[in-house]
Order: sequence, then structure tokens, then C-alpha cells
Amino acid sequence: MNIVAPGIWKIKFGEPEDYTPVKMVKHEDRLELLSQLPHSDEAPIETDRILYKSTKRGFVLELPLDDCEKIYGFGLQLKSFNQTGRKKHLRTNADPVADTGDTHAPVPFYVSTKGYGVLVDTARYVSFYCGSSRKLRTAKTSKDDANKTVANNVRDLYAVRDMDTAGVMTIEIPHASGVEIYLFAGPDMRTAVQRYNLFSGGGCLPPLWGLGNWYRSYTGADAEDVLALAEKIRAADLPCDVFGVEPGWQSQKYSCSYTWHKENFSAPEEFIGKMRDMHLNINLWEHVFVHPTSPIYDELKQYSGDYEVWNGLVPDLSIQDAKKTFAEYHRKALVEKGIAGFKLDECDSSDYTGGWSFPNCAEFPSGLDGELMHSLLGMFYQDTLLSIYREKNIRTYGQVRSSHALAASFPYVLYSDLYDHKDFIRGLVNSGFSGILWNPEVRQCSSVEDLVRRIQLSVLSPQSCINAWMIPNPPWLQYDYDKNLRGEILENYTEVQDLCRKFLELRMSLIPYLYSSFARYRFEGLPPFRALVMEYPEDENTYGIDDQYMMGDSLMIAPVIAGQMGREVYLPEGDWYYFWSDKKFEGSKTYNINAALDEIPIFVKAGTLLPLAKPVQYVTPDTSFEITVKCYGYNCRNFTLFEDDGTTFDYEKGIYNEVKLSFNTEGGFEAVRTGNYLGIKFKISGFEVVE
Ligand code: GAL
Repeated sequence: MNIVAPGIWKIKFGEPEDYTPVKMVKHEDRLELLSQLPHSDEAPIETDRILYKSTKRGFVLELPLDDCEKIYGFGLQLKSFNQTGRKKHLRTNADPVADTGDTHAPVPFYVSTKGYGVLVDTARYVSFYCGSSRKLRTAKTSKDDANKTVANNVRDLYAVRDMDTAGVMTIEIPHASGVEIYLFAGPDMRTAVQRYNLFSGGGCLPPLWGLGNWYRSYTGADAEDVLALAEKIRAADLPCDVFGVEPGWQSQKYSCSYTWHKENFSAPEEFIGKMRDMHLNINLWEHVFVHPTSPIYDELKQYSGDYEVWNGLVPDLSIQDAKKTFAEYHRKALVEKGIAGFKLDECDSSDYTGGWSFPNCAEFPSGLDGELMHSLLGMFYQDTLLSIYREKNIRTYGQVRSSHALAASFPYVLYSDLYDHKDFIRGLVNSGFSGILWNPEVRQCSSVEDLVRRIQLSVLSPQSCINAWMIPNPPWLQYDYDKNLRGEILENYTEVQDLCRKFLELRMSLIPYLYSSFARYRFEGLPPFRALVMEYPEDENTYGIDDQYMMGDSLMIAPVIAGQMGREVYLPEGDWYYFWSDKKFEGSKTYNINAALDEIPIFVKAGTLLPLAKPVQYVTPDTSFEITVKCYGYNCRNFTLFEDDGTTFDYEKGIYNEVKLSFNTEGGFEAVRTGNYLGIKFKISGFEVVE
């Protein structure tokens, strides 16, 4: 067992594989920051109780589990939350329809309410049996229990149960004859996650504009259509920072040419210029499979796998020369022309939507097989495109459909073609356990209510995004495509649009607060979106809450879905204020909260100093936010606004400010700016006390 950093242990079993997340994709860890977290010198689990063996199927590990601990994590799990008593076969997959472990981001990392985390460093389709299966006991213990009934009906027998006492976490890694695991100490779950994220390189810090609202336009739109829509959105004062252009911009889309469509986007530079004049950042859709007509096809062929996808190459971006060819082309042809970022589609694979993508037995020139490549493809892809922006010292923020372990520092947010609203909420709640970000995007909706409820969730997520790729008009003009509207504009659309604007503006008000929460992700590894159990691990009432979450340190969000006009909300210990009315609530209780369509339940923790900005329509490098600080109660914790240029990596060289907000009854309110960034992004212009 090695100590890798304070509070992180590595244990090697058997002969580990060569192609693992730590060996292939890990960024430099933040050792100096790791040592600032509290830790003890004792490993968080009894390592002499870890068993291992090689079997004909691969490699098996057994880690001890106590009967009182609860397990969370495993990446983007949309269908379940508390994983105790469940099994998860982690496998990269688009559109997972059941709770098997298939996911866009199968992260072999879990955390426990006992206050530790475990990373299994493998890119295999690994299985975790989280206390779901009991090891054979001694004859005596079995006989002692022989008269106890497990259950006597199928419903109970098939239900997920909490594990038995003396549970065990069984981990099976196919094809491997060894593995390394990393243990991350707490003392609590939240610190274990911070440690994991700092080990991954620290969280990402998006550019300020990336935290504004995103609109992805119709896939059939040409340059003129996109410009006309952008103009309409500006004319209607709907705040928007990013316009996504979907497959239609390319001459070949499945697979991709990465060149502009000659007729539909005949003058790309003019198009980019006009969009930028409207202060819109352009994000281009693409995927990694390279069409024969693409300018990089010939060069990449030698570095590609032995199977095609949609007639295109699958480049092995783990090879430096392949990465360079792919990145250089994108730099010259697109980034230097003004493209702000990319949506990295289709880098998962499919067992549920037609079975596309290369087989697990595919072979790649680096030595990776198809299974390993499925796990890591999204990681290599993010790394390749990010490298262009890093080199130019400008930040990007994008979207990706597949990720894996150690992804925290990639500024790419996961999304899916699935659309269940409850699952989208759960995805957000779960993402914070695994160093990933989740975009619960809004597409076409079944009713105005559905639309508004979905927008409410989206604006309170890592990326506020309307993905209208399937619909020519924004969803507030026209929503129900399957039923009767068939292209007709809603009669009361201005009302609907006003309601949507309210929430898009709310997003803009929260940018300074959110940006500072992301700075903590960057520097302290603390995820900006977290499950309540991560915040209140001592409170058993939070163990099953998969539909409420913390956004930053002070806001607790309880989203509502269509069909509800309110919901039960559990408020953990302490006092809380309802954001919309400032009404005070006592914690450690469950309430029935009414939420009319123009409200989503947001509770502010007592003692919060909340910076709220006057909403702007978009963020430019010169934008300065006018901020009113709302102080909830008299006994306030300080809040630190992180301030830098919002667009470059200069903050990594220490060029940033901290604006420390404080309030107490003697000294009153103070905002003290320290640091060496010379601009002012956050102007404090008002202060208000909520009693
Ligand atoms: C899907 C993607 C959608 C949209 C579409 C365009 O794979 O998930 O968001 O981009 O492709 O064809």
C-alpha cells in the first residue's frame, strides 16, 4: 500500500492492466491543495479485510461494508440513487433504459456515508455488487439463521433490500489479472469527494459566458435561419450567451467531415462575424467518427481502429500524433475562425438504440481493445479538443455524451437523448459524487407546464440549455409537436415567453454566485451541485433524497415536475428562507410547499450572504455585474466572490481577486477586494437584510 498524497492510498493487487484511467487520462493532481484538507494517517477502511482472487472470468475484489453504511456514486446514474443493496454493471452506453449500470459516464468510483471513497482504476466494464450478495457463511451461522424467513412473496424477494449485516462489496473486473485501487479518506463523504476531484486535477472553471443561457438551433437550419432566430431571441430580450449549431453545419454529418456545408453555410466567416456582433458564442456539434471526405481522413487512417462507424474512421486519440492531427485541424479551421466550443456527440456507444459503434473486440493501434476504448473515448475526445483552447489560453465550455473516471477538470457537461424529467433531476443529484457535470437540457415539451418546469431545472444546473435540435421554433412559440399544433405558433406565446424569460433572467442573476461555486470546484474540489446526503451525512432523512440538491453552499433546490403544483420538501437542520417570499422555515422537518408555475422551490440557508446580479442579456469580456447582496438573518457566514478575467487561464498563475463579503451587527456590511486582477467584474451596489 502506498500513500499517494495526504489522505489518498493506492493498493495494488495482482498484475494490473496497462490501459487504465489513471495511466491514460489523469491530469496533474493538486497536491498542494490536497494537503490542506483534514485527514488522518489511518486508511479509511481496514485494508487487511480486502480479499482478492483471479478467476476464469477475470479479477475479483471484496471490500468490507458495514451494515450501517450507504453507498453512492458510479457516475451518471439516472435511475437510482442510494446504491446500497444494488448491483451495477458499469458499461458505457447511450440512452440506458434500465437500472443496470449502463450509462453515458460509468465512473468506477463510489463513496460511503462512513466517510471514504474508492476508485477502482479500470476501464473495463466492471461490476459492483454493493452488499447485494451475501458470501457463504460458516455452517453454524447459516444453521442458526435457518428459521429466519428472507421473504415469502415475489415482490419482497425481488425488491432491492438494504444489505445484510456483514455485507461485502464484491467487484468483478473482466479479463484483468490485477488492479490498483485508490482509497480517499474523509473524514466525511464530502471531503472524500473533494480529495478525489483534486486528485483528478481539480474541478473545471467555465468561462463566465458559459454560465449564461444556451440555445441549440434546429438541425435543418441554414445560416440565414440561425441568424434570424438569434435576432428574434435578442429582440425578445431573452438572455442568451451561446448558440449551438447542430449537424446541419457540416457537409457530412454521420460520419463527420468537419467542413462547412457549401450551400447552407456558404460564408462561414461572415456567419460567425454576425453571430459575434450579437455577442453570441458559437458551439458546433460534431462527433469523433471521421468521414472519407474529411481533410483529416488520410492522415488519421494509420491511427484508427479496425472497424468503421457510419462509414467513418474511429481515430485512436490516445496516440499523440492522432490527437495532434485532430486538434490542429480544428484549431486552424474552426477555433481560430472564432468557434468558442464543441458538442462532442456519439462518443458513447449503443446497445439500446440500434447497436451502432465499434465492437468490443475492435483493435486500436495503441493496443487498446474496443471495450477499453468505449470507456475512454469520451475522455480522449475531451482532452483533444480542450488542448486547443489551453494552448491559446482561452477557456471553453462544451458538451459531451460520454465520460469516465477522473473527469472533473474537463469543462464538458454530459447530456442524453433520454428525457424523463425525474431521471434528469436524479442525474443532477448523483453527478456530484463522481466528478462529472450534468445538463438536464430542455427540448420540445408536452405542455406549457412541462416546458416551464423543465426550464426551471435547467437554469439551476451546471449548464442552462435549450436543445431545440428537433424543432424549428423555440419551445415557447410552439411546444407540442406530436399532437395538434403541427407547426402553429401558440396564441398566447408572449405570456409563455415572459414566463421563460423570468427563469432565464434568474440564471443571469445567479452567475456571480455560481461562478464562485465553480471556483471552489477548481481550487477545493468541492462540486458545485451536491446531494443533500453529501452535505448532511449524519442526517438519515437525507439518505434517500434524490430530488433535492444543493447548488453551491447556500441554495437548496427542490424541482417540481409537470402535474404537480407543489411537493414535499425536506429541510435539513437550521433555518431556511423561501427564495421567492423570504418566508422563514425551521429545519429538520418536511413541508408541503405550494409552487405555482412561476416558482420553483428554492430555499436559502440562514446565515447566507447571497450575491444577486441585475440580469444582463449576455456576458462579454467587459461585462461588469451589478450586485445586490442579500443577507439572510443576522448571523452571517462570509461569502467570497471569485473574480478574474472570466475567459483565460491566467487565474492559474494567481491573477484573480477575492471579494470577501461579510456582515455582522457591529461592523455592518463589508466587501473587501484583495488580489491582483485589475478589472472589476462584480460591482457591489446594494445590500439588503432579510429577517
Ligand atoms: C444526438 C444528440 C442530440 C442532437 C442530435 C443531432 O445524438 O444527442 O442532442 O445533437 O444527435 O443529430
